[in-house]
Amino acid sequence: METANTERKKVIFSAIQPSGTITLGNYLGALKNWIHLQDEYSCIFALADLHTITVRQDPAKFRHNVLEAYALLLACGIDTEKSPFFIQSQVCTHAQLAWILNCYTQFGELQRMTQFKDKSAKHADNVNAGLFTYPSLMAADILLYQADLVPVGADQKQHLELSRNIAERFNGLYSPTFTIPDAYIPKQGARIMSLKDPTKKMSKSDENVNGYVAVLDKPDDIMRKFKRAITDSEACVRSAEGKDGVNNLMGIYSCVTGLTNEQIEKEFEGKGYGDFKIAVGEAVVEHLRPIQERYADYSKNKDYLEKCYTDGAQKAFSISNRTLSKVMKKVGFIPKAF
Ligand code: TYM
Repeated sequence: METANTERKKVIFSAIQPSGTITLGNYLGALKNWIHLQDEYSCIFALADLHTITVRQDPAKFRHNVLEAYALLLACGIDTEKSPFFIQSQVCTHAQLAWILNCYTQFGELQRMTQFKDKSAKHADNVNAGLFTYPSLMAADILLYQADLVPVGADQKQHLELSRNIAERFNGLYSPTFTIPDAYIPKQGARIMSLKDPTKKMSKSDENVNGYVAVLDKPDDIMRKFKRAITDSEACVRSAEGKDGVNNLMGIYSCVTGLTNEQIEKEFEGKGYGDFKIAVGEAVVEHLRPIQERYADYSKNKDYLEKCYTDGAQKAFSISNRTLSKVMKKVGFIPKAF
């Protein structure tokens, strides 16, 4: 006799900001994982556009960036039949729960966030309250879907820990309401570093465009950036402490080829950094080529994009509203009669 499989698939939630360029760091640290997890888990993905306005945006560019990011993520392999994929601002439960969670988050906790410290130093003329309370919105994103796992790069670990603390606090004050989420951080690619300063993470806000590779960069640009990547004076392709530039390039090569560090060291035994950098560049170009081709198709099809994000928002609303209603009831709000 067949037994019914009643085990609930674990839930995965993750999001990315549509703030212009999506970098190889975003892709290897987070997106690539999202795609692989879709069969095994119940996945929900979002473009975190509410987070993006913590930094001033030009309205027309912002609209363009959101649609570009949506098309690009589909091109990376998000399958909207399996995984609802929506735009955060189109699902009102996020802002609502974020407000409630703000009231269960301490000033001191938010003040300790390294990203807040970095960003407020970078945008000293606009240290707005949204930048400060950004982690409670991120907690709302995750907790609304009762996520078990959150695939992110290492830079988001601190925000994840705060989300857990907020969830535990709320559960403790009332009764179990939120699933406590775990970060899902890849072994390789968790922290892709700048090609120009490998002690800093690769970031689209890098003033030097040669520091980061964008997923939509042209092959010639990708090759140029890798050829100019900072290495060291040892001229030996091996992974070791202090060899930040080489470690970073090996990490990238490993992510796109699936080779281990030992295999990479063997492949480049007796060869110089010139050959190595060209090989990394070519492997990245080949890895990104099919994504760029699919992106070109999706980005032309605005009706299809609209259908996908509308459908995603409807599904996301229906799931997240269940959690929000529970939370509101527990806090003591009067139930809505309409
Ligand atoms: P964002 O948009 O800055 O980055 C998206 C994802 O890319 C990862 N990442 C990197 N990974 C490795 N190396 C790098 N150099 C690198 N740069 C970025 C990030 O860790 C992230 O996983 N606050 C989030 C977006 C967000 C979110 C959420 C994420 C909003 N709500 C809920 C998870 C769950 C952010 O700004 O990511």
